[in-house]
Amino acid sequence: MNDRSELNAIIRETQKILKSYPVFGTHELPVLPTRTKEKPMKSVTAASKEQILAPVREKALVCQDCRLCKTRNSVVFGEGSLDAELVFVGEGPGRDEDKQGRPFVGAAGNLLNKMITAMQMTREEVYICNVVKCRPPQNRPPEPDEVAACGGYLESQLLTIRPKIVCALGKTAASALLQTEAPMSALRGKTFDWKGLTMVVTYHPAYLLRNPSAKKEVWIDMLRVLEMLGRPVPAV
Ligand code: URA
Repeated sequence: MNDRSELNAIIRETQKILKSYPVFGTHELPVLPTRTKEKPMKSVTAASKEQILAPVREKALVCQDCRLCKTRNSVVFGEGSLDAELVFVGEGPGRDEDKQGRPFVGAAGNLLNKMITAMQMTREEVYICNVVKCRPPQNRPPEPDEVAACGGYLESQLLTIRPKIVCALGKTAASALLQTEAPMSALRGKTFDWKGLTMVVTYHPAYLLRNPSAKKEVWIDMLRVLEMLGRPVPAV
């Protein structure tokens, strides 16, 4: 019995008793209307998130808001689950990504895939995107005005998906999102609030390709992410 029907049973019992004492009457004791099933909290479905992001993607695909549009082959908007609990944000597309129109498909992408697998997750269940959606020539870091021009797309992605954790990969992503010039050493191992979302920072996979000894630090960061997600933490 739920609280409401229990209360109604008590009221009915009370009415019976009061009826035997007509002086009290019973009309002041209305039975509560029986409530139909509790309305479930409306959750934003992946389909409605897609409705929000589709026009944003369409706009990005023809964007000419900065000089990177002149040298790009494709706009690399991002991909993955719109229900993702975890979003990885990289710096910007490289040569392979620019060719294929997909994020993290080159050497750094292979390493990111390995990280995701080691976390006992799949690439399909996370979301992966970049600070800038077009490849900076010679893979140079994006300029501040390029980051700013692309900022609205990233913000739409993150605030629509609303993951439990945003993981910034490397200094460019961390600086762009947190508006900080702090070094990686000061950012790793901490939790930040980004417009109401929880954000963490770790090394970029491309950095790990150049500095494999830092892989263990990234693994520590990813174990922390798993703990924060309430997921099983794999034994190494
Ligand atoms: N590096 C990035 O930051 N993003 C990619 O998509 C690929 C390499």
